[in-house]
Amino acid sequence: MQITLESKAYTSLETEAIVTPVFEGDDPIQGRVAELDKLTGGLLKKLASTGELTGKTLELTLIHAPAGLKAARLLLVGAGKRDQFTVAALRKVAGVGLRSLKSKGVKSFAFLAGGTLPPEDGSQAVVEGLITANFETDKYKTDKKDKKIDSVVLVGFPEGSLSEVRKGIERGRVIADAQNFTRDLVNEPSNKLTPRVLAERAEAMAKESGLAVDILDEKKIADLKMGALLSVAQGSVEPPRMIVVTYTPTNVKPGAPVIGLVGKAVTFDTGGVSIKPADGMEKMKYDMAGGATMLGVMRALAVLKPNVKVIGVVPATENVVDGRAQKPGDIQTAMSGKTIEVLNTDAEGRLILADAIHYAKQLGVTHIVDAATLTGAIVVALANINVGVFGSDQSWTDKLLASAKATGEKMWQLPMDDEYREFIKGSFADIQNIGSGKGGGSITGAWFIREFAGDTPWIHLDIAGTAWNDDAKPWLAKGPTGVALRTLIHLVQSL
Ligand code: BES
Ligand code: ZN
Ligand code: ZN
Repeated sequence: MQITLESKAYTSLETEAIVTPVFEGDDPIQGRVAELDKLTGGLLKKLASTGELTGKTLELTLIHAPAGLKAARLLLVGAGKRDQFTVAALRKVAGVGLRSLKSKGVKSFAFLAGGTLPPEDGSQAVVEGLITANFETDKYKTDKKDKKIDSVVLVGFPEGSLSEVRKGIERGRVIADAQNFTRDLVNEPSNKLTPRVLAERAEAMAKESGLAVDILDEKKIADLKMGALLSVAQGSVEPPRMIVVTYTPTNVKPGAPVIGLVGKAVTFDTGGVSIKPADGMEKMKYDMAGGATMLGVMRALAVLKPNVKVIGVVPATENVVDGRAQKPGDIQTAMSGKTIEVLNTDAEGRLILADAIHYAKQLGVTHIVDAATLTGAIVVALANINVGVFGSDQSWTDKLLASAKATGEKMWQLPMDDEYREFIKGSFADIQNIGSGKGGGSITGAWFIREFAGDTPWIHLDIAGTAWNDDAKPWLAKGPTGVALRTLIHLVQSL
């Protein structure tokens, strides 16, 4: 999709449609909307008086052949209350506008700036909303219905702000393209995206982006004694991979922090011998969303060039069953030397993260964030609304929560009291991979991973509830969301 900036008056634009936000309040006919009301000879006031135009979040008002405009249509998108308007709301307005028009067969339109957000943040949010909304999960449909928007023109930004707007557009494009790159990987079924294919895709991305890449194959993984990752992989004919992608800034100071981004990439999770129920199992192709997110973040960082070194570490494997698969009660030795009693082969994400985190520390990371579709329990706790956040160092965790707030991604911190650690004390090995207490499944999962992070400041993001939309949203297709990518990019850039 082509996105361009237009400085001429929007009234003179010959386009299929103009989209702009309208704000909720006692009188929605204000600012830009009041201007449009005049142009259309009071039509918008009339609609407001009958309650058809209120500005309520995501309300759509479509006017054909609007008077005073050269555009064929005017689409007003409800943006909620003006004083509660955020980049997240603007992103949705842009996305909803795009998806609504494309469902009508429109190919190009203009987005007319309307709110009071800073121009750079505002244009970035609009572009992010547009590009992520234009993504469809129809890659394997032979009849694609050709529903894509080809081009959007941004118009109506204050004249003195155009250079900032251009920066916002560029940053928005890089971030949204990275998010769609992640979503495309997550959308791939497990027969198309095995651990080896994921590694190839990561390698191609790294080479295109100018990032260093190292793919550890099953032999190297065995040489390094990554027993936890190997224990999950041993039940599959598909060999595992450890994917390492590194971004190094040009003048990094000695002693500066090195960020490790570790992402779970189970390309399919059957549960192993502790097998999952058949109903809904097909969704477990998204069990590599954490890894795909970290690869997307690395792709964006290569362009945004923050002044901090970042290493992405993605352990990739299948969790399936055959005669060689590990069984409940098996004891495995992780790369760190810790022994693990595998009480449930379906708690495999924490096993592969254990070795990935240990390896990241060996590579010199000083701060870690992991992202994983780790537990069904996080869906019980937070539904599909918030990412679960767990941390070992509050000042590091606070930085991430601030980035989540700034980018409008909903994240909620959960407790990590020492009492929960008792739940994973092993009977026959150092630790066990599921809790022996009742409840707190997401927290015991986090504690298991923390055992391998040790003293290195660490954050765990449980994205099991948020990485996949079971239903399409008005601003996003059904399927992979690319959640947490924006927060992580913001976090790295803020350091
Ligand atoms: N990949 C699953 C977690 C998951 C569940 C993601 C539902 C998305 C939706 C993970 O590997 C898993 O199976 N976790 C178990 C842990 C349990 C055995 C302690 C779970 O949540 O049931
Ligand atoms: Zn599992
Ligand atoms: Zn899993």
